[in-house]
Parts: sequence; structure tokens; C-alpha cells
Amino acid sequence: MYNHSLHQLINQVVEEKSFDLAGADQLFFTRFIANATAIQSLYNELYGNHPRGAEYFPKLLETIAAAHQNREQILKERDEAKLDKGNWFLSNDITGMSLYVDRFCGKLDQLPSKLPYFNDLGVNFLHLMPIFESPAGESDGGYAVSNFRKVDERFGNLSDLTTARKAMHKEGMYLMIDIVLNHTSHRHEWAVKAKQGDHKYQDFFYIFPDRVLPDQYDAAMPEIFPESAPGSFTFNPEMGKWVMTVFHNYQWDLNYTNPAVFVAMMDTVFFYANLGVDILRIDAPAFIWKQLGTTCQNLPQAHSLLRLIKQCVQVAAPGMALLGEAIVAPKEIMKYFGTGLYTARECDVAYNATHMALQWDALATGETKVMMAAQHEILQKPFGTTWINYTRCHDDIGLGYDDYMIEQSGYNAFEHRKYLKEYYSGNHSYSPAVGALFSVNPKTNDARISGSLASLCGLEKAVNSNDSAAIRSSINKILLMQAHSFFLGGLPMIFYGDEIGYTNDYSYLQDSGKSYDNRWMHRPIIDWNKNNKKSEEGSVEYQVFQSTKKLISIRRKLDAIGDYKNLTWLSPHNNHVAGYLRSKDDKKVYCVFNFSDSDAYLTWFAFKEHGAAPSKLYDHWRDIDVQVGPDHEYLIIPPYQFFILEVKH
Ligand code: GLC
Repeated sequence: MYNHSLHQLINQVVEEKSFDLAGADQLFFTRFIANATAIQSLYNELYGNHPRGAEYFPKLLETIAAAHQNREQILKERDEAKLDKGNWFLSNDITGMSLYVDRFCGKLDQLPSKLPYFNDLGVNFLHLMPIFESPAGESDGGYAVSNFRKVDERFGNLSDLTTARKAMHKEGMYLMIDIVLNHTSHRHEWAVKAKQGDHKYQDFFYIFPDRVLPDQYDAAMPEIFPESAPGSFTFNPEMGKWVMTVFHNYQWDLNYTNPAVFVAMMDTVFFYANLGVDILRIDAPAFIWKQLGTTCQNLPQAHSLLRLIKQCVQVAAPGMALLGEAIVAPKEIMKYFGTGLYTARECDVAYNATHMALQWDALATGETKVMMAAQHEILQKPFGTTWINYTRCHDDIGLGYDDYMIEQSGYNAFEHRKYLKEYYSGNHSYSPAVGALFSVNPKTNDARISGSLASLCGLEKAVNSNDSAAIRSSINKILLMQAHSFFLGGLPMIFYGDEIGYTNDYSYLQDSGKSYDNRWMHRPIIDWNKNNKKSEEGSVEYQVFQSTKKLISIRRKLDAIGDYKNLTWLSPHNNHVAGYLRSKDDKKVYCVFNFSDSDAYLTWFAFKEHGAAPSKLYDHWRDIDVQVGPDHEYLIIPPYQFFILEVKH
């Protein structure tokens, strides 16, 4: 809806910047006016009643205008090229890798020399794990930021980052970095000033004089790290007050009910946008709004905040997509894509955390029933948005899907989860997995799972016992897990090291800044002698790397794998098989995966239930033609194997 006074306010803001509204800045101005009403109404929803709300609104508009003004011409051109493509991030051309710069290659200035490695593998999208300043020993892997605008010296400096980004863009690659929106390190300038008694900055956080309100909050807030950081508040002796610290005690939660915090962080969002970021990973968005008496997760205001960020970004940096890292219950994850009027206008991308965990469920049980029971939820994803699909990342695996999904599959939810936790933490007699429980909460019986893809798939045990059949089987499992997520629809994100088959790294136990957090076991330090074995035929590294590379290249060849809301699950004719159909125009690809340790027999009828029955298929994985048989015959899928079958016309 057009709003005249808002138009005038925007005119005032842009006039000060002497933009060329009839020329180069015209598109920006059009976007600004087009989004202004949404920006204002979302802002008022959050800050309309705040005593300083009216004061900060023009500041927000100025921040948007300044972001456009400071945006390099080359990034503006990149924005337009992306806008021309539509939802560029839906493409089957993009495959990502998430990595810690220091553990991968030392420093940012070394990253450009690794581009040929990514190119060889087929990776063209990098998620650089947090690189901004973060105190050693109290960094939560970089998620406790003490300066949002200074690259930590461990990694280099801003100019190294810009050089790396330019080199990546030149090679046709995309860059993702994090914004840690929910909290700062207690050593961030704002927290330091708060500790010194500055009330302005105490209002940037949730700070209380005594335990009265913290106790009330704690009663309803789940603990995130119950072992290493119980409760959600920390006493700060300098102030003699309690601070909200939902994650670790050194991570202070920002108070987004204060518009000054929002505007300052929006400016930070634009700072990252103007570094040339293609996808901004919004860390822990489920937590950004707190309200007494609630879990302080997934609140409606958290969604309004994200929508507000999205509308602002669309004006000044429209090529930058937003990823919401909401690792929450399936129904809740879906809401981060936006609902109602804001459907597909909140986060462009979310982690498919539900499906990730369901893959691990299927691998441990050899059955895909729970995975199937969850799909009606996951399929609600709106057109124009996409998933990050993954099997492992730097975090633990949370079995976050709903109990009813487990029960619908005929299992007891408590026993089922217990089995999975025992299976992956290596406490089950016949399990080949070597992992560990993370954040065990005896009060709720909750626990998550740590461990690398390879170790959880059995490679660590198999190599240690020099069992070649077990090594083969674990490699098959690794590839099954990767393939299933690569073709599912969405951006595949490989966790660095998994393309080589890195097993758990226990060196974190020797470092007091890490030993309390077993997620470090699956964050390897890359040994380039090991990675170079990717070219030594017969080695484990060769087998995993070359097969992963092949999967990526198949994905890139098949348009139907782009995420155009074109996924159909095959009927579950066999409980051990997860099969889906991907289609685009007249192209169809059937992907079928056997999660069990025996041959799976899949009736050919499964391929005939979705439109015209194909007669000839081409398996891109084995490079062979496959003839579709009569309904009473079967496609036989060997244990932990899969087929990527394109329909031939
Ligand atoms: C996110 C990160 C995780 C971190 C947490 C707190 O969930 O992925 O590693 O511990 O946020 O910042």
C-alpha cells in the first residue's frame, strides 16, 4: 500500500545522500518505496510502543540508504544478475562446503590457493565458519563475537577476506558467512561498557539486579548446553547483576526489544552484505526474541524481526539471500520461510535439520518409516525458498523430529530415541558407529550426537580393525547418506573433511578451551598429505573423494534436481527404501536408496505410479541402462546402495 508521508521521509533520507534517482540509483529507489510500507509496519509491530521507537525509525531508513551508497558497483551488478535469474539459489548448479578457515588451510590468504581443490571436487559455494574476532578459549567456535567488523587475527584481516571473496566470485563461486545475531561475546565493546555501568549498553542486553525474573524465565526456558552451561543466566560480579546467557556463560543475549540494538545489528547485516556475501547465515534466529513465561524460542516477534531484516536487505542488497539457522521442531522450522502474507518473504533458505536427522534414523534402523512419516511437514516448503541439505555440519545431530512421527511408524518414541543414541555413541554391541552423546540432560533424558560422518558410518572402527569388508560397507554408507541429501532438492552442503572420509579427531581433549565441548571431535584439522591421497587409486580417500565428486557432477547435469518444488516421494513399497522422483518439464529422475544391510526388492510398479510409465532408465551412478520390468518383478538394490535413474525418452 502506498504511504505518502513515508515516501516523503524516504525522499528526505535519500536527498541527503545526493543519489541519482533518475539514473544509476533508480532501481534502488523503486525497491525502497516498494518495500517501505512493509518495513514500517513490521518495525511498528516490534517498536511501535517503545519510547524510542519513533526516534530510531529514520535511523533505520538511513542505514538502508547508506548501505546502498557504500555498496561496490561490482556487487550492485552481481545483485542485478541474480535478480534476473530469479531465485538463483534454487539451482542444481550449486554445491557447498562448510569449513573452518584455520583448520582447513591456516589463514584467509591461503584460501585462494585452495580454489583448484574445490573446483576439482565441484564445490562452488563456501560457508566460512565464523572468522570475526572472538576471544580464544571462550569462542564457541567463533560464535561468541567480540567485534563484528574485525576479522580475528588468527584468520588474517578484512582485506584478506575481500581478496578471497573476489577470487571466489571470479571463479563463479558463492560465499556464505555468519551473522551471530542473538548474542555477543562478553568481551564485545557493548558488553564491556555494560559491565562498566553504562545504562545505555546495559539496555543492549537482558540484565537483572537479582534472581527474581531470571528464576521465572528459567522455569520455562529449555537449557541448550545443560552440561557445560546449565541455566540461562550468569552472574556478572562487575555489575553485581544477572545477565541472560542462553548458550554459554560468555555469550550475552542481545535485547532486540530495544530498537537501538536492532538498528545497530541491521547495520552489521549490511556491513557483511557489502563484503560481498551471497548468503548470510543468520545464527540461532529461533532465540532472538524473549518473553517471560515462554520457552523464548520461535516467538512470533522473532519472525517479524527476520521479515524486517529481509525487507531491508531486499532494498539495499537484493542479491544476498538469507539462511535461517533454525534447528527446531519440524513444524517450527517451516515457519522460517514465512507464513501468510510473508510466505517466501522471510528466510530464503533453512537447514533441513529434520531430514538430516531422519537420514541418521534410517541408517541406524535400516527402515525409512519415520522418514516417510515426517514428509508431509517438510513438503510444505513454499516455492522460491530452499533447503541446505546436509548429513553433517559443525554441530551435533539432534533427533528433533516429533514423537508422533516415530509412533506412527510403530515404535515407542522413548525406546526408539534411546536406541539411536546408543547406536551412534557406540554403546550398542553390534553398532559399527563411533560417536558420543552431546549435551546430555538427565532432567529431560535428552541428548544429541557428536561424531564425524565417517566415524558414525563405521569407518573409524573398520580401519582400526583393518577389516576391508567393513571399510567397503562404511564407504557405501557415507555415499548413501551424501547421495540421498544431494538429490533431495536444495543446496547440498558438505562438511569439510567428509569428502575425504575424515574420522573423529580427539585432539580437542588436550585443549582446555575445547575439551568441554565434544562437537570438536568432528571438526578436523586438515592434513593435506591425507587429502592429496584423493588421487591415489584404491585409497579410502580416493574412493570417497572421487565418488563424492561424481555425485556432484551428476547433480549438475540434471536440471530436474533444481529445487523448483518438484519432489514427489515414491509410495513406500519397501520399508528399507527411500525413493523420490524429481521432475522438470519432460525430464524425470528417480532416486532410490536402500538403507538396509540386505538386498532390497523394489517393485517396478513404484516407477509407474506417477504419470506415464517409463520403460527405459539410465542410472547415472553406475553409468548403465536399466530396463523397467513388469510389476511382479523387482529392481534389486544391494545393501546401502542407490540408483539415480533418469527416464529415457
Ligand atoms: C548455532 C551454531 C552453534 C553455536 C550456537 C550459539 O547453533 O551453529 O555452533 O554453538 O549457534 O551461537
